[in-house]
Amino acid sequence: MAKTEKFERKIAVTGGAGFIGSNLLLYLVSRYPRYFFVNIDCLTYAGNLSNLISIEKAPNYRFEKIDICDYAAVSACFEKYDFDGLIHLAAESHVDRSIAGPAEFVKTNVIGTFNLLEAARQKIARGGNFRFHHVSTDEVFGSLGESGYFGESTPYNPNSPYSATKAGSDHLVRAYHKTYGLDAVTTNCSNNYGPYQFPEKLIPLMIRNAKAGLPLPVYGDGRNIRDWLYVEDHCRAIDLVFHRGKSGKTYNIGGHNEIENIELVRLVCRLMDEILGGEPREKLITYVTDRPGHDRRYAIDASFIENELGWKPQYSFEQGIRRTVTWYLENEVWLENCVSGQYLKYYEKMYSNR
Ligand code: NAD
Ligand code: DAU
Repeated sequence: MAKTEKFERKIAVTGGAGFIGSNLLLYLVSRYPRYFFVNIDCLTYAGNLSNLISIEKAPNYRFEKIDICDYAAVSACFEKYDFDGLIHLAAESHVDRSIAGPAEFVKTNVIGTFNLLEAARQKIARGGNFRFHHVSTDEVFGSLGESGYFGESTPYNPNSPYSATKAGSDHLVRAYHKTYGLDAVTTNCSNNYGPYQFPEKLIPLMIRNAKAGLPLPVYGDGRNIRDWLYVEDHCRAIDLVFHRGKSGKTYNIGGHNEIENIELVRLVCRLMDEILGGEPREKLITYVTDRPGHDRRYAIDASFIENELGWKPQYSFEQGIRRTVTWYLENEVWLENCVSGQYLKYYEKMYSNR
């Protein structure tokens, strides 16, 4: 067993080298010096340990390079640290990649989650408390029309291979709670944005392309709507639900911030024009073939987490998007390091014939 006795709690965070995981660990490791955090991540293209340089030597943080699809490794790690909690973020997360190749999504999102649930089941069988916090998405609910919101009791209706695998993992978590009494909570969050997001996702992709004078590829008519939430607000919500969420409950998290993709891209262009000067970047906007099965609108009713746990987003969209654009412009080296040969191949495949 690792020497962690002096800590109050030992918590595993899977996917801690990804976008939300990194922001979460940067937030939690300093906020809870009496907790010990183990970042379990196999470092796919989306995992980047350089995000975590400021905490890598912290006494209450450790990294374990483990693939959650490898049950023996997961189980050994659980035995080594004797965790009493897990915040599960590891996943294949990009919808377009799931359309091009769903197999990895089934493996990591379904089998990987199953392995963690099994390790948790073994842990409770040995005795002691264990809280399983599953981080999921609003995409499990499918697509909204012009009105209405996703609530906690909205029926599941996933449309992409990504959302279908996340839905499968949500169901497994619920089943382990009901069947084995696992203390589990699930959060279903809307689109996050902010620092450390891989530049395959809409906002960092647009910032990077606009900076380089490349086309800004808008899918379909550009009128699909997403409900954007600044990543730090999501991290605060996870912190609250992990500590105070009711066992067996699910919590929807969203920014009350619906915006059409085309409006968002125009806004990013205007901010970049203001900061960098030069020709208006809106002229780079290029409409391209739509994403197959593209969900039209997502919008979250977050009243349950607001009323139950007192959560509210702290960042307005104006603040969050300005911080985000500024962060990517100031962290050009980080951005360009993500864009390795692998990413260029992906970009070519995804966008060359659209
Ligand atoms: P990301 O793609 O940026 O990061 C995923 C991380 O998981 C990476 O560090 C990667 O190396 C790791 N990983 C992938 N497969 C693994 C495996 N088999 N074993 C161990 N580690 C593995 O994802 P993200 O955007 O930070 O999303 C994190 C979680 O939050 C996901 O579960 C996602 O479904 C969920 N979520 C994301 C959003 C969003 O807007 N990004 C919104 C709601 C929910
Ligand atoms: O809603 C939560 C989900 O948000 C998370 O579960 C996913 O992990 C995360 O990737 C995100 O999914 P989206 O598909 O909504 O995000 P993405 O950034 O890929 O796309 C946002 C919108 O922008 C979507 O309507 C598709 C559109 N888009 C995207 C890209 C990459 C474009 O128009 N052009 C693009 O090049």
